Amino acid sequence: MNVCAECRLPMDREHEDERCGACVALAGRDLDISVAPLERTDLELVLAWRSNTEVYRHFRDQDAPLEWEDHVEWFESRDVRRHDFVISYDERRVGVVSLDDDDAVSVYLGDVSARGQGVATNAVRWLCDRFADRAPLFADVHADNDASKRLFEHCGFERKKQTGDWIRYVYES
Ligand SMILES: CC(C)(COP(=O)(O)OP(=O)(O)OC[C@H]1O[C@@H](n2cnc3c(N)ncnc32)[C@H](O)[C@@H]1OP(=O)(O)O)[C@@H](O)C(=O)NCCC(=O)NCCS
Repeated sequence: MNVCAECRLPMDREHEDERCGACVALAGRDLDISVAPLERTDLELVLAWRSNTEVYRHFRDQDAPLEWEDHVEWFESRDVRRHDFVISYDERRVGVVSLDDDDAVSVYLGDVSARGQGVATNAVRWLCDRFADRAPLFADVHADNDASKRLFEHCGFERKKQTGDWIRYVYES
């Protein structure tokens, strides 16, 4: 099967470029950003990022630092419809963008020095482009998370409803 040299996802037709259209578009942006599938060798870094209160306090499904064994088990038992990508910026790993098996989009930058420069916005745009066939996609964002709300709005998500403190954003493509 023909796969993209960067995101490693299948390309359903022959491309002159070794990368898929979404990765070519990402490379064409002003920022030096790329994505690669999450690997076993990324797990230590991801554990450190996701165990930082400043990162996980924004997550709906996590309220404490991760345990290493649970983290590895999570990685090894992921559903085939779930995709996690490490975001690199200026050739260093800075965060993760994901699509889960229910079509929920999530993103975080564990490296705070990369924040505020459009990195997450470009990563989510790439994900929406690459998985356009899975739309509608959605994201649940805490009402206090201004950066995340702006980010998803910039990426074409529309605010659909609020349940308690959580706002559902939907991307129709
Ligand atoms: C949310 C997050 C991914 C944004 O990443 P980022 O690369 O800094 O975002 P971008 O640079 O693409 O900016 C997106 C928008 O958020 C705004 N923004 C960034 N940091 C902000 C902050 N601290 N407060 C308010 N707005 C902020 C940016 O200005 C931009 O909006 P604008 O273009 O209208 O000015 C990052 O702050 C993060 O990892 N937060 C912790 C985890 C998290 O909240 N993940 C989302 C869970 S749904």
